[in-house]
Amino acid sequence: MSGNITFTMIKPKAMENGHMGDILAKIIEGGFKVKAMKLTRLTKEEAKVFYAVHKERPFYDGLTDFMSSGPIVAAVLEKENAVQAYRDYIGATNPAEAAEGTIRALYGTNIEANAVHGSDSDENAQIEAGFFFSKRDWV
Ligand code: CMP
Repeated sequence: MSGNITFTMIKPKAMENGHMGDILAKIIEGGFKVKAMKLTRLTKEEAKVFYAVHKERPFYDGLTDFMSSGPIVAAVLEKENAVQAYRDYIGATNPAEAAEGTIRALYGTNIEANAVHGSDSDENAQIEAGFFFSKRDWV
């Protein structure tokens, strides 16, 4: 069911800082079921396609450089009302503004290296999951 799926990435800085295990544990602890997962990395070109919606924004080049700078974990998560539930669980985009105890507050460095990505709509969750996985991986 599309409303029960969201997509996440653990970003390069959080990986470099050794937070992969803690973030995955926290995701599971939050009641999100991991439906598909891979340790991978994005090329600059792939990062530009993934974040194409932001291509007119001043941070696009820096963000895509950063997202292609090292390994990431990509995962499809399942929970009731997954997109909103996960956005609430990870906290505000800027870790400095994220509520205490959220993933971005705990493991984020700055607005770009904010520990994790989370889909912003059911439609984008499907598109983003499809960027990394075949639908049979998570359905
Ligand atoms: P994410 O959830 O991956 O989706 C888009 C990303 O753009 C966002 O997290 C931030 O890391 C990044 N972003 C959004 N706004 C800014 C900004 N003002 N400066 C730098 N990066 C930003």
